[in-house]
Amino acid sequence: MAIKAIRGFNDILPGETGLWARIEEEAKRIFGSYGFSEIRIPVVEKTELFARSIGETTDIVEKEMYTFSDRKGTSLTLRPEGTAPVVRAYIEHQLHARPAAKLYYMGPMFRYERPQKGRYRQFYQIGAEVLGEASPLLDAEVLEMLMLLFQRLELQGVALNINSLGCGLCRPRYKERLMAFLEERREALCENCRRRIDENPLRALDCKSSHCIEATDGGPSIVDHLCVECRDHFEAVRGHLSRSGLEPLINPRMVRGLDYYSKTAFEITGEGLGAQNTVAAGGRYDGLVKELGGPDTPCFGFAIGMERLALLLGGGDSTEGALVFVALLGGGEVEDKGGSIIKDLRSKGVAVERDYGDGGLKAQMKRAHKMGASFVVIIGEDELARGVVALKDMGAGTQRDVPLGEIEEVLSGALSSQRAGS
Ligand code: HAM
Repeated sequence: MAIKAIRGFNDILPGETGLWARIEEEAKRIFGSYGFSEIRIPVVEKTELFARSIGETTDIVEKEMYTFSDRKGTSLTLRPEGTAPVVRAYIEHQLHARPAAKLYYMGPMFRYERPQKGRYRQFYQIGAEVLGEASPLLDAEVLEMLMLLFQRLELQGVALNINSLGCGLCRPRYKERLMAFLEERREALCENCRRRIDENPLRALDCKSSHCIEATDGGPSIVDHLCVECRDHFEAVRGHLSRSGLEPLINPRMVRGLDYYSKTAFEITGEGLGAQNTVAAGGRYDGLVKELGGPDTPCFGFAIGMERLALLLGGGDSTEGALVFVALLGGGEVEDKGGSIIKDLRSKGVAVERDYGDGGLKAQMKRAHKMGASFVVIIGEDELARGVVALKDMGAGTQRDVPLGEIEEVLSGALSSQRAGS
């Protein structure tokens, strides 16, 4: 029996990779103009890094990590996200020597979640992190950059939700209020949330169970419990966002599934993704660098889910270039001359396909059609004797002779007028 890929691990096929490449190129261009540089982090890290940063009582650390021991018994984990590895690299390579490190990364992450549309066990993220900047202006600027990327990609129907998760000063006070509120409603909560009352009560606000949503409705809101510094920060972020034309929805129930956040937290949702509708998310994590042994460093970042973004953009390959098929009718001089035309066209960036056997014209035309070629260049002994090639426009169904020396020029013109018309 044929072997299949593991459930939740996807092949990204040629029909999709063009869109993925376009997203990545656009992200690189825009992030570059906001001063970001790329960092490449390992796919595997010590388990401790994720347990200490994401939080021992989060779903990710409790039940979603791909953890294994290497041959020496060290516990390793396939990265479930990129923020902790970036912070580890920042501390290890002393990137704090510079005023603010602005770093982005792209690559696969791994979480043992139940696979469904938009949720996979291997998924790709494009993430960006700024380490060493506390200003609310930075939060707003990074959100502006992310929204600009979505705008450039012509992504429609996205909503920006923001919240403040407070800091080490105000969150414990809020947690106490929330715990007391949840305790009174313990019986109405799901088993998971009951267990979490003492461990991680904020997670109860994010529970998808309708009983928990109902039971926690009208509970204490974090935005009413912020200290002066956190409140001022939140107001300033909203002000800056508004000046750049962004009007986010304030969502005090949005608490994020990772424990390292403080102050600003956000999620961007898209339409038509079903339950897994968060296409990008992130926020401020001012305590994490210190927590992992580095200097006190305020940070802000986000990650985009590539599969979800590609689904929202229609998944198709909008950028696949026009293809030219060169049909050679014979060997010898035809192969010599035709081969050099193919090489010249390819070196000029034209996508050219050919037949590798000795099929006749009919078989080669069929192959060209199946490949979706826009034009077919036909070269046989008869054409060479007349110093021409035959050029067939597959869309229009017309055919004409083109002098041998002019084929590149004529094809370039035809391809660019086809691009302009599409
Ligand atoms: P996150 O919310 O866990 O945050 O993931 C960010 C995005 O990755 C999600 O909004 C979603 O689009 C995508 N994603 C997450 N899990 C899956 C999955 N199983 N299948 C498909 N897509 C998924 C983080 O990872 C943080 N590191 C973001 C961050 C960066 N915060 C600060 N800096």
